[in-house]
Amino acid sequence: MTFEALKPQVSTILQQDQLSVEHRLEELCTLLRAEVDYYDWVGFYFKNGDKDELKLSSYAGEPTDHTIIPFGKGICGQVAVSNQNFVVPDVKAQDNYIACSITVKAEIVVPLFVDGKNIGQIDIDSNTADPFTEADERFLEWVNEQVSGILS
Ligand code: SME
Repeated sequence: MTFEALKPQVSTILQQDQLSVEHRLEELCTLLRAEVDYYDWVGFYFKNGDKDELKLSSYAGEPTDHTIIPFGKGICGQVAVSNQNFVVPDVKAQDNYIACSITVKAEIVVPLFVDGKNIGQIDIDSNTADPFTEADERFLEWVNEQVSGILS
């Protein structure tokens, strides 16, 4: 399915006000993982209270041990401090990387802003080498803007 075709489905999931935010985000992760063939693990991390660390929220894919990630550590922790998208075409080429599964070849992390503040991120692992393009970045930025709308 194309990103454009996915957008209305994303909106429909997020508009389900009767469901908790966590439940809606879980449905969103499941949708993205099912519909984009190179998205093998999809999850949201959020800043853990006033600590300088990220905490795993909703996700779709294999469970990970890395439910808490200190700021600065791994791809996720770096995005928490850089406020920039981080596209990793080959995880083996990264020094500051936290491996969740040996099958993962590439990763993309896009920060999520509420009122201009970086409060979390969407993290996607792929078992395909170098699969992400600018289209993924633009789409995931759009997804995070929609999520931001139900958080603020
Ligand atoms: N690889 C990430 C850790 C999170 S897992 O991909 C689910 C990182 O280096 O921050």
